[in-house]
Amino acid sequence: MRTIDTSVLIVGAGPAGLTATALLARSGVQTITVTKYGGTANSPRAHITNQRSGEVFRDLGIEDRVAALATPHHLMGNNVWATSFTGQEIARLMTWGAGIERNADYQASSPSQMCNAPQHILEPVILEAARESGADIRFATELVAISQDEDGVLATVRERTTGSEYAIRAQYVIGADGGRSTVATRLGFTFDGESGLGAAVNVWLEADLTPYTAHRPGTLYWMCQPGNDYWVGSGTFICVKPWTEWVMLFMYDPADGEPDISEEAMLARARTTIGDPEVAVRIKAVSRWEINHLVAAEYRKGRAFLVGDAAHRHPPANGLGSNTSIQDSYNLAWKLAAVVHGQAGPELLDSYDAERRPVGKQVVDRAMKSVADMLPISQALGFRPGQSAEEGWASLAEVFADSDAAQQRRTALKQAVALQNYQFNSHGVEMGQRYDSGAVIDDGTPYPPFERDPELYYHPTTHPGAYLPHAWLQHGTQRLSTLDLAGRGSFSLITGVGGEPWLDAAKKMAAEYRIDLPAHSVGARCAYDDVYGDWADLREITDHGCLLIRPDRHIAWRSHDLPADPEQALREALDRILARP
Ligand code: FDA
Repeated sequence: MRTIDTSVLIVGAGPAGLTATALLARSGVQTITVTKYGGTANSPRAHITNQRSGEVFRDLGIEDRVAALATPHHLMGNNVWATSFTGQEIARLMTWGAGIERNADYQASSPSQMCNAPQHILEPVILEAARESGADIRFATELVAISQDEDGVLATVRERTTGSEYAIRAQYVIGADGGRSTVATRLGFTFDGESGLGAAVNVWLEADLTPYTAHRPGTLYWMCQPGNDYWVGSGTFICVKPWTEWVMLFMYDPADGEPDISEEAMLARARTTIGDPEVAVRIKAVSRWEINHLVAAEYRKGRAFLVGDAAHRHPPANGLGSNTSIQDSYNLAWKLAAVVHGQAGPELLDSYDAERRPVGKQVVDRAMKSVADMLPISQALGFRPGQSAEEGWASLAEVFADSDAAQQRRTALKQAVALQNYQFNSHGVEMGQRYDSGAVIDDGTPYPPFERDPELYYHPTTHPGAYLPHAWLQHGTQRLSTLDLAGRGSFSLITGVGGEPWLDAAKKMAAEYRIDLPAHSVGARCAYDDVYGDWADLREITDHGCLLIRPDRHIAWRSHDLPADPEQALREALDRILARP
């Protein structure tokens, strides 16, 4: 069997694998990406694209391309609960930071906006970025066997069009091969949690629902039909393309048997939940999926790493699946690049598990809790499994009646809807990842205390381990974010007025360690002018201090002021973070 050598083998070309491929290829790391199917995702699946993912795309230079194809943030806001599109509206909630109450939080925390970018539209954009950096991506190429020893990994792949097999030998492998990961299974990764906790059907369809949605634009329309067959309702419509393309999602209990998912049955369900028999409906695809609550017990085994759904499997509540997958790769790629290029010791790679596994655990737990937290809506409406349509309609009528009892039920419904903020405005969960590992140097100060609910609200801080806070700056006539001064595969440094010794130190260290280490003065009338004074409020260091920022924009180390020997201080910090001998 012929054998090809490479530095990093990436298995899978979903959001996680494509992001890892694009980032590594841009860093000049030799990679081969193999993926089982003949192309990128052939259905919408993940769609909520949060600000942290937007910032990764910004770093890759593709944020504008994604935005051009996605449904913009201002059309994402309304979460509507109704008996059907033509039927009675039950409740509405402004989501994803689009409501007045939360919009400022979202705007203030990032240069990137959330958008609705279905996976089949998003993946080709990341693929294009990877290809522009010269990545070697092999479609219809399935991993069939893999082993590893101290020196590397050896994989056998099969070309699905010809059936021929060949071997790939690599220094490292990234398992980005989704919820049924062959890398995880073959290399003996174990998982904590439970699987098979429920099931759902996705029906991708075309139907022009403009008359029922354009006046209340949103991403999710929950059709709760009285007498419905399961508590989540009779069909949640996910906007794929405003307002003509949708995914109709419905849950079922496998214990009651598998549902009829014939085209006829799906058309009937779509027509009932739309409520207008005149609307033409065309089914494009039907698929089933399972609810799992699993996270890998380790994200790294020797030379193998799991990213994305290969590492964490959970329901789509909170829209964190592909976002977390993209962000796993953002964390891992620069570390692998530094090690492969000989700029860092292999111990740096230990920080991947230490940093991303707690995030994976938080995400699967949050998503699972959000699913359970939808139950109070059904309860407030008095909807129960097995109830007749008449009973359901009567119960609903009571909610909106003119009586004291009805008023109490409306209060219960309002509270149940407010609970959904933990799913749809969970800004702290989306943005607030903080790392504690060997790739972060704690400065001995405590994190500032949370002033608001840490799940709902993002608290920016420059404490080592946190993500670089965003502030708008002026550079000549250009407006840019502090986040634009970091990333692109290299460490960077930010200081303030009078921080020139740090700039000199960074230049010397970059030359000595043969790394890119751009350093910037950010402050009042500096090259990067803090014209609004926002950065002064966020930075938590003096003008003479500095922040050392990792390529994934997390703070690696900070110095509150100027030490006697800034070059030595910076050297010690870099040596520790990069695990240099
Ligand atoms: P993904 O599964 O996308 O890709 C796996 C890749 O591995 C594929 O390219 C496949 O070809 C390849 N592969 C598999 N086995 C292989 C083998 N043996 N050899 C070679 N290649 C192999 N997420 C989110 O963030 N927001 C959201 O709103 C939603 N909504 C949503 C709705 C629904 C209905 C579902 C089912 C899921 C979501 N998700 C989501 C979750 C999201 O779809 C999921 O988290 C991501 O696709 C995970 O991306 P990955 O790249 O990890 O795996």
